Amino acid sequence: MSAAQAIFKGMPKAPPGISVDPLRMVGKELKFLTKNIRQLLGSGHPALDKVAKYYTHSEGKHMRPMLVLLMSQATALDPRKHHSYTDKPSPVDSSFSAPSILEDANPEMNPLVAPNADSKYDIAGDDYILPSQRRLAEITELIHTASLLHDDVIDNAVTRRANSSANLAFGNKMAVLAGDFMLGRASVALARLRDPEVTELMATVIANLVEGEFMQLKNTAQDESKPVYTDETLSYYLQKTYLKTASLISKSCRSAAVLGRSAPEVIEASYAYGRNLGLAFQLVDDMLDYTVTEAEMGKPVGADLELGLATAPLLFAWKSNPELGPLVGRKFREEGDVQRVSVYNGAAWYDNTDICFFLGP
Ligand code: FPP
Ligand code: MG
Repeated sequence: MSAAQAIFKGMPKAPPGISVDPLRMVGKELKFLTKNIRQLLGSGHPALDKVAKYYTHSEGKHMRPMLVLLMSQATALDPRKHHSYTDKPSPVDSSFSAPSILEDANPEMNPLVAPNADSKYDIAGDDYILPSQRRLAEITELIHTASLLHDDVIDNAVTRRANSSANLAFGNKMAVLAGDFMLGRASVALARLRDPEVTELMATVIANLVEGEFMQLKNTAQDESKPVYTDETLSYYLQKTYLKTASLISKSCRSAAVLGRSAPEVIEASYAYGRNLGLAFQLVDDMLDYTVTEAEMGKPVGADLELGLATAPLLFAWKSNPELGPLVGRKFREEGDVQRVSVYNGAAWYDNTDICFFLGP
């Protein structure tokens, strides 16, 4: 049986009109994702344990780990990979330092060191996903969730995944610290993949997320009070979008291919795929903020303007309506600004050739 046949064997059929349903291809793997992530997040301090696991109780879309798992499956089909799936996989739970050092003043607080029988690591056992790639999927979700904990503090959010946001439920201080704790646990898990290239890629993502968020605090590079729309306005927005959203997807897809010992051109293709998909994802998310209801979105809509953010729909409206410049400059803070913007229409902005050109084929 070929690798492709093995992967599809026993998979439920995709709905009519859809030839491949990505969710079903890694559905079994995803079923265990949340439990395994909770295991990575356990803390002996009850309050920290609760806040750190809070966002794992309301299921997210798991888009990022799903892509890592799919990329792992897809790259396994490449006959040129420098690695056989029958090779003994490297351990993902064993530490470098002695447990006595890692646990020193923190006894029984690190489930990464000594998992007990009840918290056994669960896997669906897809032969074409390596343990290291599965762990990478979990790390990707940990980094994403940590960024959401921080993002909700920055955005003063009240809801997340149809529940109270962590900052509302526990306060800003605990939400920020829980995010930091998550990054700490993600870093330990990353080190234990024993792949310096992947460590470098994923650590860069963390810095990129912060850089993107910093760029978002200003709508334009110069941050002037009466900005004029130029080509740089759109490049600034796209660069911010790459750093804030696409970097995690592109570098985790690349990391999945690196861990699978893929050929260099496959590694490059994985990276380009993640980058383009990540940019497209954020562009659509920014559009939905203008076009759908809160019930459909599962989070408040119209939020970007309220936060003073000029995203793609607004930028395209501004391009043909220069009078929007001062509103962008004052971050829509003056009374009536948000309503004034709503009469403009960034018509068919997703057809815009600049974006198509940027995203590439
Ligand atoms: C959601 O954006 C937020 C992000 C994609 C990234 C946020 C990054 C940081 C806060 C930097 C700190 C990073 C780490 C790793 C601690 P959004 O506000 O557009 O989406 P939303 O509507 O879901 O809130
Ligand atoms: Mg937000």
